[in-house]
Amino acid sequence: MNNLKKLYGHFDDAAREYVITDPATPWPWINYLGCEDFFSLISNTAGGYCFCRDAKFRRILRYRYNGVPMDDGGRYFYIREADGSVWNPGWKPCKTPLDAYECRHGMGYTRISGERRGLRAEVLFFVPPGRRCEIHKLTLSNRGDAPRDFKLFSFVEWCLWNAATDMENFQRNLSTGEVEIEGGTLYHKTEYRERRNHYAFYGVNAPIDGFDTDREAFIGAYNGFDAPQNVLAGQATDSVAHGWSPVASHCISVHLEPGQSRTLVFVLGYVENDPEHKFAPDGSIDKTQAHALLEAFDSEEKVDAAFAALKQCWDDLLGRFQVESGCPELDRMVDIWNQYQCMVTFNMSRSASFFESGIGRGMGFRDSNQDLLGFVHQIPERARQRILDIAATQFPDGGCYHQYQPLTKRGNNGIGGGFGDDPLWLIFGTAAYIKETGDFGILDEPVPFDNVPGSEVSLLEHLRISFAHVQERRGPHGLPLIGRADWNDCLNLNCFSDNPDDSFQTTENKNGGSKAESLMIAGLFVYVGKEYAALLDRIGQDAAAVRQAVSDMECAIREHGWDGEWFLRAYDYYGGKVGSHENAEGQIFIESQGWCTMARVGAEQGLCDKALDSAKRLLDSEHGLVLNQPAYSRYYIEYGEISSYPEGYKENAGIFCHNNPWVIIGEALAGRADDAWAHYCKISPAFIQDQELHKVEPYVYCQMVAGKDAFRPGEGKNSWLTGTAAWNWHTVTEFLLGVRPEYDGLRIEPCLPADRFPEYRVHRRFRDAEYDLTIRNSGRGGSRFIPYAPGRHVLTVEL
Ligand code: BGC
Ligand code: NOJ
Repeated sequence: MNNLKKLYGHFDDAAREYVITDPATPWPWINYLGCEDFFSLISNTAGGYCFCRDAKFRRILRYRYNGVPMDDGGRYFYIREADGSVWNPGWKPCKTPLDAYECRHGMGYTRISGERRGLRAEVLFFVPPGRRCEIHKLTLSNRGDAPRDFKLFSFVEWCLWNAATDMENFQRNLSTGEVEIEGGTLYHKTEYRERRNHYAFYGVNAPIDGFDTDREAFIGAYNGFDAPQNVLAGQATDSVAHGWSPVASHCISVHLEPGQSRTLVFVLGYVENDPEHKFAPDGSIDKTQAHALLEAFDSEEKVDAAFAALKQCWDDLLGRFQVESGCPELDRMVDIWNQYQCMVTFNMSRSASFFESGIGRGMGFRDSNQDLLGFVHQIPERARQRILDIAATQFPDGGCYHQYQPLTKRGNNGIGGGFGDDPLWLIFGTAAYIKETGDFGILDEPVPFDNVPGSEVSLLEHLRISFAHVQERRGPHGLPLIGRADWNDCLNLNCFSDNPDDSFQTTENKNGGSKAESLMIAGLFVYVGKEYAALLDRIGQDAAAVRQAVSDMECAIREHGWDGEWFLRAYDYYGGKVGSHENAEGQIFIESQGWCTMARVGAEQGLCDKALDSAKRLLDSEHGLVLNQPAYSRYYIEYGEISSYPEGYKENAGIFCHNNPWVIIGEALAGRADDAWAHYCKISPAFIQDQELHKVEPYVYCQMVAGKDAFRPGEGKNSWLTGTAAWNWHTVTEFLLGVRPEYDGLRIEPCLPADRFPEYRVHRRFRDAEYDLTIRNSGRGGSRFIPYAPGRHVLTVEL
């Protein structure tokens, strides 16, 4: 009985949807709309916002992070019945009890429906491919046996474009708001009079009874979204916003006979005009493009055609890798949700989620390279551009900006560089791209340094200096210097901050003479160095020096990086051990066990098996492998941010779903299928039993699940925008299912428990070829190489 946990929803694999059946999820469960440059976040109660290209500078809808109640504000439809009662199809904001509610999050769309006393309202939200708008297709159906008369109100609240100043500069903001009204289309044009050439609008393909564009006129100064005074009164006031807070709300009277339905199409659009042609002759905004967008979706048929195109687009993207493994949880992650999340991380990087406010960081150098692993098979051309953009932010000495800004593609000066692992990820991402595509030509592309025209060298040269940069910056043990941090942004061994106003990432109070070295970077260096050497071999260049550097690093790890039962994590500023049994806390860390076993350092001497056993013994828990043990119980000035977190959270012994895969790959390369599978099942969302405890979306990975030392172990946080998506994809497809792209073909090398997976099928698009593979998995290991050849191949591989 105890195992019967409350469920808020379930998967519908045939429809590629997650179906939420209770609107009061433990946390908003969101989806993303948009694939090109117009993006939306939408929760299961229609909360959220949209933006064009940049979540900070081109925010279209206003959204209040950290609001009370949470997730208030979005695209709301209010139904005001003849008896004065008011409800929303998505339950919020009125929270009037519904007789039925369902939210289906699908691939690039969300469908929310609610029903009350025989009246059903269903809204399909999506961003049509190639368009800068959200479509809200609303279908109202009278399922009762009496005619129904009611008022429908739409509602969105505009953001004054810059999402950061929108939340702080009220002395200005409350005077700048401007709108225009043209029939049923409500335009938002704040700052259009001056330097902006963009505006937004909200229109509907039906006559309206009235509208509101001033927030307080619509809601009432003392009401909330749950009780707008005009909705309660059943009447719009045709308010025109002058400053304060512009909104857009339509009011439409609806009459439905029993059995009758009516569909309305609302278009929430964004337009950029040519700066020379911003205005119509009468001084109003030039609305040509808005008219065209409205016309493109002024009928149900046009909307349905665009929706079919969206579906087709996702069928094509996901269809490149499909598995039938006999395990529904694995199949739905691989076929649907993991691939989908990888595309979302491509689009969003770490910018906008319900944990990332869209006004924070730029795109991470390391994050973007790792994200590539997850989408390179879906959109290789865009991955190519991404690599070239990233490389162009590098410095001539091989170091790099830790982040760059998506709008300008320039390195972020505020953060700067100095993260010891960053350069290696460029080699890693480029190798993954070439293996997927066979496009060795990318290595010859001219790429500048720090975006300075005229400084171009080949991408291959960028790789060379990346490797050299890390090789040249080694400490007393011949191990790589960590710099500000390595993958673990919170292991700040040169920071020494006692000032709460310092950033842990950018403060280096001590670095001259630092002895802080990283075993995570050392493992990464060996792993990536081997890849780099193989790449040089393949293009006919001498790899001897690279191999020598790799072998030197392996020796250094074996000699100075082995603690007896596991790999050390680091040496601190003074040369003291981090991640050793000699430490009082933080005796073992996951990152170095992952990377050193992936790189097979000391495998012959039994080090990898021992390290994997230690990770299992000391780091494993019911919900996955924690990052370190024992957790730090106080602040260590010499370790930095890691010890700032309470035990069990984030980098201080949280379960990072991002680095569990490193251990899983280590297990797979060691041929330990049962352990690899057991680790995977703990972090894969499809296996989540307790949705209430997990709290965040059960269909995508989150960055961190609270570890065993936390107050509530198993509680997830920071869902969606995390390298976890790419790493799990990479791990499952290439190391568990074992279908691994190489420069000249596919290597098949499964590592799954044979009793559970005796045979499975994989459909994989590889370059311009299609492979239909039946893999018989005896569990004895082994591998088979299938040379690439164009065309369709139906093969059975017995291993
Ligand atoms: C977080 C890290 C994150 C970093 C970004 C830290 O507070 O714990 O996960 O990478 O901020 O700057
Ligand atoms: C999130 C950051 O985006 C990523 O770069 C980092 O490696 C992890 N946190 C771990 O600190």
